[in-house]
Amino acid sequence: MVGVSKSFGGAAALQEIDFAVRSGEVHALVGMNGAGKSTLVKILSGALAPDSGEVLIDGGRHGALTPRRTRALGVSIVYQHRTLVPQLTVAENMLLGRLPRRMGAVDWRRAHAEAAMALSTLGVEVATRAITGELGQAQQTLVEIAREVATGGKVLILDEPTASLGGADAVTVHDLVRKLSSAGISVIYISHHLDEVLGLAERITVLRDGRRVTTAAGADMDLPKLVRAMTGEQLDQERPQRAIPGGETVIEIDGLASGKRLAELTLSVRASEVVAVLGPAGDGQSELFPLLSGQRRPSGGRIRIAGTEVASGSVGAALSAGLRCITGDRLAHGLVPGLTVDENLDLTRRGLDRPWLVRWKRLHREASVARSRYGVTTIQADPPVSALSGGNQQKVLLAKWLDSSVQACLLEEPTNGVDVAAKSEIHHLIDNLAEHGTAVLLASTDVEEVLRLADRVVVVRTGRVVADLPVDGLSRDALVSLTVGGTAS
Ligand SMILES: Nc1ncnc2c1ncn2[C@@H]1O[C@H](COP(=O)(O)OP(=O)(O)OP(=O)(O)O)[C@@H](O)[C@H]1O
Ligand SMILES: [Mg+2]
Repeated sequence: MVGVSKSFGGAAALQEIDFAVRSGEVHALVGMNGAGKSTLVKILSGALAPDSGEVLIDGGRHGALTPRRTRALGVSIVYQHRTLVPQLTVAENMLLGRLPRRMGAVDWRRAHAEAAMALSTLGVEVATRAITGELGQAQQTLVEIAREVATGGKVLILDEPTASLGGADAVTVHDLVRKLSSAGISVIYISHHLDEVLGLAERITVLRDGRRVTTAAGADMDLPKLVRAMTGEQLDQERPQRAIPGGETVIEIDGLASGKRLAELTLSVRASEVVAVLGPAGDGQSELFPLLSGQRRPSGGRIRIAGTEVASGSVGAALSAGLRCITGDRLAHGLVPGLTVDENLDLTRRGLDRPWLVRWKRLHREASVARSRYGVTTIQADPPVSALSGGNQQKVLLAKWLDSSVQACLLEEPTNGVDVAAKSEIHHLIDNLAEHGTAVLLASTDVEEVLRLADRVVVVRTGRVVADLPVDGLSRDALVSLTVGGTAS
C-alpha cells in the first residue's frame, strides 16, 4: 500500500499510509481505538476504496479492487465483526456462494465433507451440521477463519480474531497463525492484546490517529515501547485499593439450569462486590447473558435481585429489577447499529422512562455527558454506531447500559476490542460502579482483567460451580489453571 489516504465525511481516517507485507511474515497492525487499522485492511481487501494512494498485490496494479477480485488475487480477510449467517449451518456458511453442485443441485454430501475437511485441517472441532448461531463466539470465530483459509489465499488478514476468545481458544488461533506463516502465507494480525502481538509478530506497524508511526521488527519491540508508540505516553495498570465489600446480597442465583450447558449454578454477589465467573469456554458462563437478561427462560432455578424474585424469561422484568446485562456481542444484542451514537445512548433511558417524546437538544446534551464519561471518540459529530471503530462501539455499549443508578449488572467481556488506554479507563469506571454499591458479575476470559477487577472468582465446570474463592493471593498461573480446568495449587 503506497500513500493511502481515506476520509469519511471530510474527516481523515487515514493519511498517506505506506504499508508493505512480505510473503510468509506475520505482520501485526496495532494502534488505539479509531487509529485506522480496520479501515486500512478494508482498503487492502477491496471492501473500501481509498481516496488516494495505491494498493499493489505481487507488485502489480489491478485497478479498482473489490472483495471478489482481491480474493481471486489471494487476499482474504476475517472482519472485526462476525459475518456468518446465524440461521445457516456451519457447512453452508463456510461454502456460501460456492456450494459444490452436481447435476444442477447442491451436492450436500460433498459440501459437508469439504467443510469438515477444512475445519479438521485447522484442528477445529465443530459439527458441520450445527446451526451457526447456536455456537459460542470462539467457535464462530474459528469457523470464519477456517472458511477464509480454505479459499487458499496467500495473504490472510485477521482483524482482532481473539478479541472475544479465552486463553485456550486464543492459543488455537496463535498456533494456526504460526502454521500458516511457516507454510508461506502472510498474516496481517490486528490485536489489542499486546503480549500476543509481541509473541507472534515478525514485524509490527503502529498507527496513531490515521498516520503510520513506525514499522519495527517484533524482536526490537517490548511492551513499554509499543504502548509509547501507540499512545505517545506511558500508562499504569495498578490495581487500586478498594474496601472489602461487606454489604447486602444483591444478586442471588439459586440452582439456575439451562439445557445441557448449565446444570446447576448457585452464586451470590453483594453490593460493591465484583465476582468473576470463569471456566473453559462454553462451560456455563456463556449462558449467563441470555438467562440473566431474560432473553431465554431457564429450565430451572431462581434469580433474585435485592431480595425480590425476577420473573424468568422476561427482559422487562430483569430491567425493572435494576439488573443490566451487557453483552459480549455488541452489534447483535447491545446496540442498534443503524441509529446514531446519541440515539443509542438515549434509547435505554427514554425506553425505560419516557417512551413517547424525543427532545433532540436534551438528547444530545445528555448523550454528550455519557460520551465524555466513557471517552467515546468519533471523527464526525454524531455518526451511526455502525460507523464507529470497534473499541468505540464498546464504549457506547457500556455508556448506554450503565449509569450510576444500576443496582446490579452482568458484564460480559467489558473491554472486548478496546485499546490499552480505554481498557484502563473502563476498569476505573467499573471500580467506580462498585464503589457506589453496584453488584457486578463479570464474565471475562481475560485473566489480567479478572485479577485487576474481581474480588472473588467462581469457577464453573460442566455446568456446575466447582470453586468459589477470593482473588486476593491468587496468582496469574493459578487463575489460568482454574479456567482451563485444573486446580489453583
Ligand atoms: N464507514 C464509516 N463512516 C464514517 N466513519 C468511519 C467509517 N469507518 C470508520 N470510520 C471512522 O474512521 C476512524 C478509524 O476507524 P477504524 O475502524 O479503522 O479504527 P480501528 O483502528 O480499527 O479501531 P478499533 O481498535 O477500535 O477497532 C474512526 O474514527 C471511525 O469512526
Ligand atoms: Mg477495528
